Amino acid sequence: MNWTEIEDDLRKRLSPKRFKHTQNVVEVAHQLADRFGCDQQQVRLAALLHDCAKHLTDQQQLDYAKKHHLNIDPVCQNDPQLLHGPVAAVLASERYGIKDPAILKAIECHTTGSKNMTTLDKIIYLADYIEKDRCFPGVDAIRQMAESDLDRATIMALTNCICHVAETEALLHQNTIEARNDLIIKQKNILYKSN
Ligand SMILES: [Fe+2]
Ligand SMILES: [Fe+2]
Repeated sequence: MNWTEIEDDLRKRLSPKRFKHTQNVVEVAHQLADRFGCDQQQVRLAALLHDCAKHLTDQQQLDYAKKHHLNIDPVCQNDPQLLHGPVAAVLASERYGIKDPAILKAIECHTTGSKNMTTLDKIIYLADYIEKDRCFPGVDAIRQMAESDLDRATIMALTNCICHVAETEALLHQNTIEARNDLIIKQKNILYKSN
């Protein structure tokens, strides 16, 4: 499918609110790609498709994940919407014909983050978090950091997510902790080497 075909398909399948969110993510991801130097084609496609499985119910997420042999850890088993990233990556490949592994990985890890996030992964994670309709305590500070420092803005978004999940007593996925630790360790190493 080309861009317009994918967009038309998503407009039909996602709720109007989710589709608007998707358009907002494409817009801010495009800006972040310009700012931090990332391939626009990859960024725009990953942003467009990141929530292409968000309309599925918990049971459908689990069924789809099982059918495609995705890893269903105990946290995902108990909070199946955490699977909408990995499920979306399979859908992006099978339904929309996206075969670029870099795009698929960014879609896959957009909800939880992951270890060794690429610039593309960070841009999609962050764009999803700070798109213009997002409104929660701390979002403006993250938007401001995203004007100049992609890694620090991503760390702030991961931290905010972890605090929110802890406060609401929801399940925290281990990939989110790993993503944050990994980025912080890399930042410390950069600081250490430059001193
Ligand atoms: Fe999502
Ligand atoms: Fe999203």
